[in-house]
Amino acid sequence: MLAGKNLIYPTDFTVEQLETLFCLADDIIAVPDKYAGRCAGKILATMFFEPSTRTRLSFEAAMERLGGKVLGFADSASSSATKGESIADTIRMISCYADIAVIRHPAEGAAHVAALHSFIPVINAGDGGHQHPTQTLTDLYTIRAKKGHFDNLTIGLCGDLKYGRTVHSLIHAMCRYENVHFVLISPPELRVPDYVIREIEAAAGCSYSVNPNLDDAIRQVDILYMTRVQRERFSSQEEYLRLKDSYILDAQKMKNAKKDMIVLHPMPIVNEITGEVDEDPRACYFVQAQYGMYMRMALILSLLGAQEGPPTVCGGKMFEKVCRNPRPNGTVHCKNPKCVSNLDLTLPIRVKEGGKVCEYCDAAIEE
Ligand code: NCD
Repeated sequence: MLAGKNLIYPTDFTVEQLETLFCLADDIIAVPDKYAGRCAGKILATMFFEPSTRTRLSFEAAMERLGGKVLGFADSASSSATKGESIADTIRMISCYADIAVIRHPAEGAAHVAALHSFIPVINAGDGGHQHPTQTLTDLYTIRAKKGHFDNLTIGLCGDLKYGRTVHSLIHAMCRYENVHFVLISPPELRVPDYVIREIEAAAGCSYSVNPNLDDAIRQVDILYMTRVQRERFSSQEEYLRLKDSYILDAQKMKNAKKDMIVLHPMPIVNEITGEVDEDPRACYFVQAQYGMYMRMALILSLLGAQEGPPTVCGGKMFEKVCRNPRPNGTVHCKNPKCVSNLDLTLPIRVKEGGKVCEYCDAAIEE
């Protein structure tokens, strides 16, 4: 059903397809041996142009556990990106070597570009401050395990809502369920981007409120999704230092929360949750990270069409003709300096929503 697809946005799969993935992850956890050789002979490529611990290693562990092999690089310094190679050319080559690829890149829209030029399924493992859909799969799986449902939830999102791509992806995904209320807890400088707000406003059953006061907001939420302030995305170190400790969740604050609230965090935790909170049974972030590998096993199996047995479809696709035409001297460009189209000037501009929004990064397009 998902065989051959890409995962670039958290909403690339339907709610029903997600439920099938979650059931597959349940089964992998229950009977891991059943899946041990399912990806024998297959290769996963990990293209990490940005640092990662959990995401990259959990993908690698997932593929190894499925009996497949892994190749790739863990930082851009060890790829041809340092020589100036485009994302399109890098993925073209990797899709000749591997059966499925995972990409993390600092440019917003980079995974989308990779998917446009790939022969093999591409998984977005984080594109700048934009999206991180496999973290969302992990977050959703944890919510399903701990809460049992996705509807009728109040979710507090706290910390760096501007650059926190896991926040953007989680909101996108949760907007498809009924009666979800988001409480946005951040300093004004780190509030969610406009395109994410538009997403909530467009979702019939969902709503949001802004409350920068964590002590107060924590009383109301069923889920508290904490995030670190994303140092690497700030242009000013001073600004980062001023904002980095905006919110620190401690045992005192936890006293005000509902008895069945859960605390999630995509990790890494820097300073925003104190160690004493770990002992609270409502702290779910370590088990959330653990679920990540099983979700990624389910994802790899599904994209390779290997859930029922070893996949039969093999690679071996040859290039017909590749044209790397430069972008014509047009007048429109994307306003977002971190958009992949402003970093690779050979990429054609692609727009959606009547030409107003950049297809790569969701920012506004200007004339
Ligand atoms: C997140 C990311 O990379 O966006 N980490 C992860 O993949 N679990 C969150 C973060 O880095 O703060």
